[in-house]
Amino acid sequence: MASGVFGLDIGRSFVKVVQIKSTGNKKMLIGAGTTVTPGGGIMSESPIELKKVADSIKSCVETAKIDTDKCAVSLIESQVVSRLISFPTLTDKELSAAISWEAEQYIPLPIKDVNLQYKVITRPAAGSNEKMSVLLVAAPKRVIAKYINVVKNAGLTIAAMETESAALVRSLTQHEDPTTIIVSMGALSTELVIIKSGSIVFTRSIATGGFNLTKAISSEFNLPQNQAEQYKHAYGLDETKLGGKVAAVLKPILDILVSEILKAVEFSHTHVGEAPVVRLIITGGGSFLPGLSSYLTEKTSLEVTLGDPWLSFAKEGIITKLAGQGSVYSVATGLALRS
Ligand SMILES: Nc1ncnc2c1ncn2[C@@H]1O[C@H](COP(=O)(O)OP(=O)(O)OP(=O)(O)O)[C@@H](O)[C@H]1O
Ligand SMILES: [Mg+2]
Repeated sequence: MASGVFGLDIGRSFVKVVQIKSTGNKKMLIGAGTTVTPGGGIMSESPIELKKVADSIKSCVETAKIDTDKCAVSLIESQVVSRLISFPTLTDKELSAAISWEAEQYIPLPIKDVNLQYKVITRPAAGSNEKMSVLLVAAPKRVIAKYINVVKNAGLTIAAMETESAALVRSLTQHEDPTTIIVSMGALSTELVIIKSGSIVFTRSIATGGFNLTKAISSEFNLPQNQAEQYKHAYGLDETKLGGKVAAVLKPILDILVSEILKAVEFSHTHVGEAPVVRLIITGGGSFLPGLSSYLTEKTSLEVTLGDPWLSFAKEGIITKLAGQGSVYSVATGLALRS
């Protein structure tokens, strides 16, 4: 049976949709597609622009031959506030009574204006002096209302909503994996997510993405945006191309990311205890930058791999036509895997 819910990732440069069919342990990709996101995308406050976003979602769903109108949608990470907080060990009941009051100290928004979710990450045994850690996620009600409206204007309904990082964890990691940092590079931002034993212990959204790289090439070589984009795809960090000039423009921007990755890894060592980060999964459209994996290996000393959300999928049907492109669908696949 086809899954009743498809995954919808409304990125700021591309909309991505994914539908999956699961039979027993077998997972099959039965629909996938991407369309350019018009104008300011979902971050826009203009009803006209938001209507265009709805139209592009609709056309993406039609072209990808998605056969359900129910979707799970991801919230852009920078629009939500995620915090890992420590508590004296509480029972579920005590925690649910304490959480909104506690959240006020950590969430820089009035609690009445947000939807609050939380998940216990570690709970030490009763009587232990150690603290429990809880991941708090607050999404502004105004943002949620905007997503509901855009999706409704696309002729669809939202069955579930979650953060991009929650979707990435589902599509790219397994519970038994070693502690891992996912680096998801989109157009306008890069998401860092650290996962330990299947749980998120750290998230950060950095306002540096593929668009910054294109812009830097465009201004350095005085090229129009589309040509700068081609340079980026063709040369990337390859030192042997154009005398390494493109690589030299890109590296200082990527070094901002590297420094944030190293800070995140350090944070997880000091705050989450043993089981250090050993693995880095790079994903999102930006992960296709030539030479990026080896650059990150050199700078972080972690084991770097390109994220493939379809690794365990049956290699039949449309997946064979999309070989090597999975990374851009990591969020949409994680959403589709919810059901
Ligand atoms: N081959 C490639 N080499 C380098 N960069 C690439 C390549 N292919 C795509 N990109 C970049 O990937 C980015 C788009 O990726 P993606 O679709 O994941 O972003 P998005 O989800 O729309 O953005 P965001 O997550 O910031 O909202 C663009 O900046 C694009 O230039
Ligand atoms: Mg994205």
